[in-house]
Amino acid sequence: MVVLGGSGLVGSRVLELWAEDAPASVLAPAHVDLDVLDSDALNAYLRQTDAAVVVNLAAWADVDAAEAQRGDPDGRVYALNAAHPERLASVCGELGKHLIHVSTDYVFDGTSSERPYREADATHPLGWYAETKYIGERRVLDSGARSCVVRIEMPFTGRSHPRSDFARICLRRFQAGEPIRGVEDQRITPVFLDDVVRALRLIAAERFAGILHVAAADWTTPYRFACSIAKRLGLSTGLVQPERFEIFMATRAAARPQHPWLDVSLFADLFGRHVLRSTEAQLDAWVDQLASARVANRL
Ligand SMILES: NC(=O)c1ccc[n+]([C@@H]2O[C@H](COP(=O)([O-])OP(=O)(O)OC[C@H]3O[C@@H](n4cnc5c(N)ncnc54)[C@H](OP(=O)(O)O)[C@@H]3O)[C@@H](O)[C@H]2O)c1
Repeated sequence: MVVLGGSGLVGSRVLELWAEDAPASVLAPAHVDLDVLDSDALNAYLRQTDAAVVVNLAAWADVDAAEAQRGDPDGRVYALNAAHPERLASVCGELGKHLIHVSTDYVFDGTSSERPYREADATHPLGWYAETKYIGERRVLDSGARSCVVRIEMPFTGRSHPRSDFARICLRRFQAGEPIRGVEDQRITPVFLDDVVRALRLIAAERFAGILHVAAADWTTPYRFACSIAKRLGLSTGLVQPERFEIFMATRAAARPQHPWLDVSLFADLFGRHVLRSTEAQLDAWVDQLASARVANRL
């Protein structure tokens, strides 16, 4: 298995969990050793390995910063999120490798407030990050390579990583005794990162081809999510200030979908209902993870 983007928020946990089981089977070239935008180097790297699966997590994932490059096909956002997956898929197709390409709930415009988005629903990306990710998805799926596009939403972890997530932002604020704003009129399905990693492993084992949503099994709102965290930490939910989506949006450079919730029933039908859990079950696991990280730090 080759993992590209193994130092990122998602990639680092993929490496930690997979390496526990089968360290020798995971190849994860660091950015300094393999620049995925160097197509000759990428080509050569993939040709010299007999790994049957490639997991692509190398991306530009900063949604707001991407706006500065809006419309620029020569920019880094486009290169990483659209051009790179296309080239990668082409090489994987030629070499017969299974490509798992991680994408995002932001390919949808979030206007569906009645039901969560299914894999086949119409896409309509709003910001430049979202648009380039959407182009990347299409190019992978159209490449002819055996490939799976895995859309994830708001991955969160109790492990430390330089890239933050909403759960750890809540934690930091609460620990500092500071309030946090939580959007109350937005339906989201944030996913515990360890569950993403388990899902990716099952997809890799099956060599599943197509699109799959990997997210929480039920929806919440950022407001309720933050309140659940406060409660678990024994704190007052008064620390969470409800906010309207349009007020939150006014502070952001990139347009975002209001209801980017994902329907995970296809994944559950294929792989069982135990992998992608409810938000509350995920948060229980997150709190346990925080506790074990604290114990480990004291050792
Ligand atoms: N985080 C989220 O909230 C979220 C939500 C939905 C979907 N996703 C998707 O999940 C995937 C992973 O996101 P993430 O949050 O893990 O992103 P991340 O933390 O920003 O990681 C991006 C990875 O890409 C690598 N990379 C960037 N440019 C590279 C290059 N030229 N050559 C080689 N490697 C390069 C980075 O390495 P260096 O750091 O060494 O440059 C890093 O390992 C992305 O496809 C993203 O769209 C993320």
